[in-house]
Amino acid sequence: MKVLAINGSPRKGGNTDILLDKALEGAAASGALVEKISLDSLDIAPCREIECGKTREDGLSIVEDDIYVVFEKIKGCDALIIGSSIFFGSITAQLKAMIDRFQCVWLAKNFQKKDIFNKRITSAFICVEATDRTDFFDNAEFIVKHFFVTISAEYKEKLFCSNLEEKAAVLKKPKMLDKAYELGKKMAEPST
Ligand SMILES: Cc1cc2nc3c(=O)[nH]c(=O)nc-3n(C[C@H](O)[C@H](O)[C@H](O)COP(=O)(O)O)c2cc1C
Repeated sequence: MKVLAINGSPRKGGNTDILLDKALEGAAASGALVEKISLDSLDIAPCREIECGKTREDGLSIVEDDIYVVFEKIKGCDALIIGSSIFFGSITAQLKAMIDRFQCVWLAKNFQKKDIFNKRITSAFICVEATDRTDFFDNAEFIVKHFFVTISAEYKEKLFCSNLEEKAAVLKKPKMLDKAYELGKKMAEPST
């Protein structure tokens, strides 16, 4: 089992980062190979497919930037955990930019009936915010769920943590850390 975590927060050592590390710790304890990538350290341009109207012959984006790192890592994993902080009631710009670049995958799936990401993986979403607005989590989850459908991933687990504002504030919340660890363990289980 390979469990991949993708961090959409730009804050290194921040709440999302810590919760993803905890989840991967749980997954590793259950025998999974684990890896985390940070979108903020990648060069992913916003999607311009609606303007350029083109894709490569294999159906993927003609803009060969670091979105190909993401494509390859997701193709190689069995379970995917997406993490994001809430920015203005939604996911971060880094994560939205990544998701938008899967438009080529959505087009291939819905118009050419070609599933580029046809391996059945499981997925989870970890999200944090400073306030306690459930509608912000609903909003973020809606987008991420739509992304999981696009890559044919089974949405299995979620963890939403409120009242976290300062960097690494989650370190003072052992219950949240335990939940992240347990989420990671579940993600390491083969899908049924
Ligand atoms: C640009 C920006 C927008 C934010 N918008 C919200 C918001 O709409 N609601 C909220 O509860 N927190 C908001 N926050 C606070 C973060 O979600 C919060 O600090 C979170 O713990 C950051 O997680 P991180 O350390 O993983 O980046 C915002 C923070 C930033 C920098």
